[in-house]
Amino acid sequence: MLAELLLRLTTPAAPMTRQLGLVGESVALWARGNRQRQAWAEHHKRCRAVITQAVAELPRRRRVIVLGSGLLRDIPLDLLCKRFEQVLLVDAVHLPQIRLRMCFRPKVTLLNRDLTGVMGWLAEEEKGRIEPLADLTADPAIDLVISANLMSQLAWPVEDWLDDHPTRAARLPKELPAQCIAWHLADLRRLGGRVVLLSDVEMIERDRTGAHTDRFDLTRGVTLPPPDESWDWPVAPFGEAGRDRESIHRVGAWRNFR
Ligand SMILES: C[S@@+](CC[C@H](N)C(=O)[O-])C[C@H]1O[C@@H](n2cnc3c(N)ncnc32)[C@H](O)[C@@H]1O
Repeated sequence: MLAELLLRLTTPAAPMTRQLGLVGESVALWARGNRQRQAWAEHHKRCRAVITQAVAELPRRRRVIVLGSGLLRDIPLDLLCKRFEQVLLVDAVHLPQIRLRMCFRPKVTLLNRDLTGVMGWLAEEEKGRIEPLADLTADPAIDLVISANLMSQLAWPVEDWLDDHPTRAARLPKELPAQCIAWHLADLRRLGGRVVLLSDVEMIERDRTGAHTDRFDLTRGVTLPPPDESWDWPVAPFGEAGRDRESIHRVGAWRNFR
């Protein structure tokens, strides 16, 4: 608990990133991932395997971008550092332990970005969405882009913030959370190089009898092509979020999204 509090206080982040709850969520994810190391291991292994295969198939390996790099649990970072000339890790939040680890990785650059592109708009600092990766779309040296379990995370902080700010919400498009997901997919298609998309797409809650008690579309209705692979990620096994309730996320992997 004390470690979590310290991380919350010492993680550098823009005010809107903090307001949207992303710092708290990153710290909570770090703590939950430590508790659920075993339950999450297979999910992480499969993500890393998809990326490893994509790396092996590339004709050139100059620059790789990881979007939603976070704690890097799903990323084969040693491999990326070995095979690429430069590794860009992009996230709204880079926790101090990640910042420290990356000091010893000369090929790695950390970029702080809001990948929804709407935080400035919500804060009334912008008149609309800012393309968050505009500077990178023109980069001809990008050979691989990895969207690393980020897509489903783009909608809910905006949804929650709009619920808490009804006056502002009334002046913004109703479908903004779903649009954040659709825009991310469009951003991926605009970037150069091969694109690997990894994302959870559906949440299923089950009780101890195995009966489904809830189901939620994490894509917010945005259409995706069928994934190349999919698997279940036990995000909250029994006892994590509720004694008699488990939460399973269905994950999709698109090896060459574009
Ligand atoms: C489920 S985590 C995955 C993190 C990492 N790939 C891993 O497995 O360790 C989602 C990541 O998306 C990031 N994220 C959420 N909303 C974001 C936004 N608007 N802009 C940039 N990153 C965001 C979070 O900070 C978090 O690191």
